[in-house]
Amino acid sequence: MSKNISGFSKKSKSEKINWVIDTYFKQHNSARTIIEQYWNSDKKLQQLHDEFIENTITNYYLPLGVAPNFLINGKNYTIPMAIEESSVVAAASKSAKFWLHRGGFKTNVISTTKIGQVHLMYSGDFKDLKTYFTHIKSQLLTDTNVISRNMEQRGGGILDIELIDKTAVLENYYQLHATFETLDAMGANFINSCLEQFAQTFEEHAILFTEIDSEKLDIVMSILSNYVPNCLVRAEVSCLVSELNDDEDIQSHDFANKFLQAIRIAEVEPYRAVTHNKGIMNGVDAVVLATGNDFRAVEAGVHAYASKEGHYQSLTKATIKNGVFRFWMDIPLALGTVGGLTNLHPLVKLSLELLGKPNAKELMQIVAVAGLAQNFAALKSLTTTGIQKGHMKMHLMNILNQFHANDYEKKTLINHFKTTNVTHTAVNIALKKLREI
Ligand code: MEV
Repeated sequence: MSKNISGFSKKSKSEKINWVIDTYFKQHNSARTIIEQYWNSDKKLQQLHDEFIENTITNYYLPLGVAPNFLINGKNYTIPMAIEESSVVAAASKSAKFWLHRGGFKTNVISTTKIGQVHLMYSGDFKDLKTYFTHIKSQLLTDTNVISRNMEQRGGGILDIELIDKTAVLENYYQLHATFETLDAMGANFINSCLEQFAQTFEEHAILFTEIDSEKLDIVMSILSNYVPNCLVRAEVSCLVSELNDDEDIQSHDFANKFLQAIRIAEVEPYRAVTHNKGIMNGVDAVVLATGNDFRAVEAGVHAYASKEGHYQSLTKATIKNGVFRFWMDIPLALGTVGGLTNLHPLVKLSLELLGKPNAKELMQIVAVAGLAQNFAALKSLTTTGIQKGHMKMHLMNILNQFHANDYEKKTLINHFKTTNVTHTAVNIALKKLREI
C-alpha cells in the first residue's frame, strides 16, 4: 500500500484513522484500540480537541500536576504544571517549601513590549527610501486603525515603527521594525495582522510616490519576532547564608559557595549552560503549557536571550554579599491570559483559575518563579547529593510500570527503595525476588 496520499485533510476522521492503520500498522486492532482509548466520551469535548488542529486522530495526554506552597510577593500560589518528566513537580514543590520559610520569591516585570518586522529589499538609494518612509509612516498607522482599535482602547497597540538599514549585513536589506504593547494577549495574530497591513500599504503607496522606484522595492515577509528581550521579568530569592541549611543537613557556607561556583561554570561553559537552562525550562515550559501558551515561542526567545552577550550562558545569577545569598533570573516571556487556547481548553481555564485568573504580567512572574525554583532545586541536588538520588526515586514508578508491577509489588518496592539506590537493574532484581516468594 502506498504511503503517500492526496486530499488527506478532506477525509473524515474515521477515513483518516483507517488509512493510517491500514498503511502503517501490522496489528490493526491494537492500534485502533489505543487510538480510541484516548478519545473523550464527551462528544463535544472531543470535537473541541479535534478542531484545535488539522488531521486529529486522537488525544495525547500529559499529566497535569500541581506544585503548592509558592509564596510570590507575599501571595500564595499552587502552580499547575503539565509535564512528563517524573521529578519536575516534586522538585518545584520542594523548592517552593524551602523558600516559603525564607521570605518567598520576589518578582517584578521589567518591560512588556514585543517586536514585529516587515523584511524588505530595496535596490535603490537609501535616502529615497527614508524620504518615502517619513512620508508614509502616518498612513501605515492609519491603515491599521481597524485592526488596532480594540487594543488601543484597552491601552495597548502599536508603539512605534522605524525604518532600519540592514545593508551592512545583507545587500539591499531593510526592515520596518515595529514595537507593540499587547497587554494580556500574547498578541501574535494582532502583531502579524498589523505587519501585513504595513507591508500592503508600503507597497501600494510606493507606486504613487515618485521619489522612489517601486520596481526596486520587494517585500519579502512580515512576521512577529519571538525574540522578546523587552518583554522581561525578574524573579529572585534571598536570605542570610546562615539560613540556607535545612533538614538535609547541608552546611550553609559550603553550599552557598558551591552553588555560586555552579552558576559561574554555567556562565562560562556552554555545554553546562545548556543543561543548566534546560532545567530552568523544565519549570517554565510546564506552566506555559498548563496555561495554554506557546512553549516553542518561549523556548526560542529564552535561548536567544541566553546568548545575548555573544555566547550562550546561564540565565540565572547568584551573589553572596555581606552574608546574604541572592539568587535571581531575568527571563523574556511573551505570554497571554486572553485569546488563543486560554478560553477554549477546559484544563487551561482550570489552570488559570487555580492561579487566581492572573493577567499576563502576573503570569510572567509566576512562570519566571517556576523556572527559578526548578534551577534552585537542580543546583541544590547537583552540588550536594547528586541528581540521581532524587531523580531515580521519582523514576521508580516508571520502571515499575515498565515491568508491569501490580499494586502490591509497587507498594512493597517503593518501601524497599526508600533506603536503597534505585537503578533499572536493582528494580528488576528486587521484583524478580518478590515474584519468586
Ligand atoms: C533534568 O531534566 C534537568 C537537570 O539536568 C538540570 C541541571 O542539570 O541543572 C537536572
